[in-house]
Amino acid sequence: MAQNKPNVLITGGAGFIGSRLCAKLSGTHDVTVFDNFHPQVHDGNPENRERLAEHGITVIEGDMRDRDALRAAVETVNPTLIYHLAAETGTGQSFDLPARYTDVNVMGTAHLIEAVRELSPATGRIILAGSRSVYGEGACVDAEGRPTAAIERTGEDMAKGDFAPKDRDGNTLTPVATNADCVVAPASIYASTKLMQEYMLRQAFWGTGVEVGILRLQNVYGPGQSLNNPYTGVLSIFCRQIQEGKTLNIFEDGEITRDFVLVDDVVNAFAMMGTVADMPMDILDIGSGEAATILDVAGVLLNLLGEPTDKLTITGQFRPGDIRYALADTARSRSQLGWAPQVSLREGLEKLSQWSQETMKKEKSLQSEGFANEIGGH
Ligand SMILES: NC(=O)c1ccc[n+]([C@@H]2O[C@H](COP(=O)([O-])OP(=O)(O)OC[C@H]3O[C@@H](n4cnc5c(N)ncnc54)[C@H](O)[C@@H]3O)[C@@H](O)[C@H]2O)c1
Repeated sequence: MAQNKPNVLITGGAGFIGSRLCAKLSGTHDVTVFDNFHPQVHDGNPENRERLAEHGITVIEGDMRDRDALRAAVETVNPTLIYHLAAETGTGQSFDLPARYTDVNVMGTAHLIEAVRELSPATGRIILAGSRSVYGEGACVDAEGRPTAAIERTGEDMAKGDFAPKDRDGNTLTPVATNADCVVAPASIYASTKLMQEYMLRQAFWGTGVEVGILRLQNVYGPGQSLNNPYTGVLSIFCRQIQEGKTLNIFEDGEITRDFVLVDDVVNAFAMMGTVADMPMDILDIGSGEAATILDVAGVLLNLLGEPTDKLTITGQFRPGDIRYALADTARSRSQLGWAPQVSLREGLEKLSQWSQETMKKEKSLQSEGFANEIGGH
């Protein structure tokens, strides 16, 4: 007799990470997506939506801010596994739209909690797409190698070209990899809402049969990340700018450092969280474990896309909410989840640049077809 597949609900499942997670789970699970197809994410980027149709995913178009719609979706699907990915995701944009970010990310999570608590019995797993942004400047050591908390970098220092993280007394610190032992210190409204999501989910299901797992993701990149959304995905934005013949603007002194992790590796981690026998005790950090400066990565992308590697300007500009250094300590993801990144940064950048070339080529031919049709119509 055929076994029933487990029901999975993925909020934000039409997005960059979510649509790939849907594809991965589609053979083994009955997958339903709850997503409002946010225009900023989906306009001009049909690929992720198309992926859902290709894999026979059920789609419920709805907004996390709509309590009744979400409740109805949870009731209908009656999931044993929920991935909560729906969110407003722009760090910089969150300063301009604090109410919207709070409504979607915090209130939306509250709606999800209420909906799950109404299931009887409330059991299963909820896995949150958390963010490393909750660490702010992250873990640092002082000149003697002692762990020391960094304060938020000041506009005054940065205007003088001094971008290094500092301690309370103004001493320069050296950043190191972060794990869940690191003190949280969100430096943007986006990061604060992501931290709130973690707190709420961990608090809401105490004493119930619901298990909560949290993955703090570093900078996820790869094919499928919007080439049009100016608020997220620095590497995709670079790919578009390079192919449009633009000179890349590199902020600060070029030494901003990130841990770029390929979307396929992230999707594997989510899938494993759904099936691992014992839910990891700790919040897990998901990154490549490779630190890369923005200057270096820009150079690699320029090279891969056939442009001179110096077609960039180091502007010295800086933005609130940008942190200096991000690197995941993935030891616990390895030991508690059995997960490890499989793809090197170089290999991942090759995939990204190739995909961006194909996508922009398609875009151009669609535009010229449209143009030809327009001419034909007149
Ligand atoms: N991509 C990264 O680098 C990264 C890093 C850390 C954490 N995360 C987290 O991972 C999750 C997924 O990120 P992503 O990169 O796939 O982003 P994405 O923008 O591609 O996907 C988010 C999805 O959520 C949907 N959504 C947005 N607002 C909604 C609302 N009000 N109601 C219903 N759906 C809504 C969007 O339509 C989109 O399909 C987010 O929670 C994000 O905070 C991502």
